Amino acid sequence: MEKTLIIAKPDALQRGLVGEIIRRLEQKGLKLIGIKMLSLSSELLQEHYKEHLEKDFYTGLEEFMKSSPVVVMAWEGFECVNSVRIIVGATNPREAEAGTIRGDMAIGTGRNLIHASDSKQRGKEEVKMFFDASELFEYDKSEYRHIYESSERN
Ligand code: RTP
Ligand code: MG
Repeated sequence: MEKTLIIAKPDALQRGLVGEIIRRLEQKGLKLIGIKMLSLSSELLQEHYKEHLEKDFYTGLEEFMKSSPVVVMAWEGFECVNSVRIIVGATNPREAEAGTIRGDMAIGTGRNLIHASDSKQRGKEEVKMFFDASELFEYDKSEYRHIYESSERN
């Protein structure tokens, strides 16, 4: 089953929106398989955001991501990377659709509340980067047969 890494960024924690983010992902029917709070190091951020290291906004992004702890989560579900990107909305919250996390609750691009993996491959890599195997949980979700057809559950 596909996995995606979510980070409730420092602004989500400061604004008391971590629960709302979790609520929206739970409500979708996704399965939470790992969750923890941590302070991000420069090393981990440079690895995580390596595609952005050379960009003008990187210094500000790293500083912001270290400004308070974050809540990192691993979620699982059928084609969940794409579903979650839709729930999260566009990077610039002023262009994000109403009904999305960023569209409903954020304004600044550098204060857009949440990170979500952007491809199936990145989802797999990012979950591995942020979680040890012992911090990830496999369990049956009892309502799965009301969320997926059997062909979508593998
Ligand atoms: P994320 O990686 O955090 O999930 O966000 P994303 O895929 O929607 O956006 P991405 O292009 O990967 O950019 C990563 C984060 O960098 C900040 N950013 N600032 N000032 C700017 O032009 C700018 N562009 C990007 C945002 O916080 C974005 O989420
Ligand atoms: Mg990104």
